[in-house]
Amino acid sequence: MWLTYWWWQGLVFAGFFCIGFPQLGHGTLYDSWWANNILGFTLDTFVLAPFFAWKASHNAHHKAVGSIERDENYVPHLRSDYKLPPKERSRTADYAEVFEETPFFTLARIIFMQACGWWLYLSTNAMGSKMYPQGTNHFSPYSAIFKPEQRVGIIISDLGVAFMASMLVLLGCLFGWKSVLMYYFIPYVLCNHWIVMCTFLHHSDPTIPHYRKGEWSFLRGAAATVDRPLLGWLGRFFLHNVSHDHVAHHFFSSIPFYHQPEVTRAIREVLGEDYNYDSTNSFYALYRSFTECCFVEEEGEIVFYKNRYGDAAREVAEGALKSIKEGGWDSDIQDKLEDTADDA
Ligand SMILES: *[C@@H]1O[C@H](CO)[C@@H](O)[C@H](O)[C@H]1NC(C)=O
Repeated sequence: MWLTYWWWQGLVFAGFFCIGFPQLGHGTLYDSWWANNILGFTLDTFVLAPFFAWKASHNAHHKAVGSIERDENYVPHLRSDYKLPPKERSRTADYAEVFEETPFFTLARIIFMQACGWWLYLSTNAMGSKMYPQGTNHFSPYSAIFKPEQRVGIIISDLGVAFMASMLVLLGCLFGWKSVLMYYFIPYVLCNHWIVMCTFLHHSDPTIPHYRKGEWSFLRGAAATVDRPLLGWLGRFFLHNVSHDHVAHHFFSSIPFYHQPEVTRAIREVLGEDYNYDSTNSFYALYRSFTECCFVEEEGEIVFYKNRYGDAAREVAEGALKSIKEGGWDSDIQDKLEDTADDA
């Protein structure tokens, strides 16, 4: 009975999160600023998430998705972060020294990321943007992530999270800690797991590129996002299609979730073979991205993740950059998107 409860309650909590951030955070559900923000704040505070803080970094993420320098989350590690010797001089043993581990340890690291990743990101900017100084987090109003005019919101989110935490302490004192653990905390950890799983898989895959300044554009970044049938109909229903329609969400974040399936259909046509859809079982995809998206090279304007043997699943073909530019990929897609939007 408890297992059943945890499973469903975890999904519902994750649903609060998905409706709160990707939707109300962009202000898509209501015309009123107040309605979007009050509902978003309430739902997210309930799952101990700092609404205005993540709203700020999430909007910044939308403006810089796929950029190595400016993206906000799941920014790839570099070769130098692992102190690997340069590409030409690295041997199998060098990679093995850094990445070789027992399957049990891999599993333990995955569980750790799933359970704690969201909080590590919020409190230490783990895998966050490298442009921020050490100590950057989502709770200090003076954090480099935020603009001065966002500071009040950050304080309000902190107060919200502190209020919710004290409610849990109060409930613990009244009904016992075991109740809080069983009714709230375990589903809450599962909710964090779903959050990390969705967001990690949207932007981390051995086959999608990351861009540096010279080659990044909004359209390329948005197209470097992966749609997945995460949790099948459960994901459609409880998580509001968040993973099914993520490419569409990046192209048009102001469109509410219930119109996104339609947008996905339209975008598929426009992007053709540049539309990324991966039907791999999401749990296997999680394992695959976790073990194969190890690091990217320091040089190169368009880079793909390398695995623990130092191999990339894809590389930019010689002359491809030039032909993309001359073929005018960006302006071509832009035109087609505008035509499709006009038709709609
Ligand atoms: C998710 O997508 C499906 C199919 O495209 C659609 O029928 C459903 O209404 C969407 N779910 C939500 C919660 O919007």
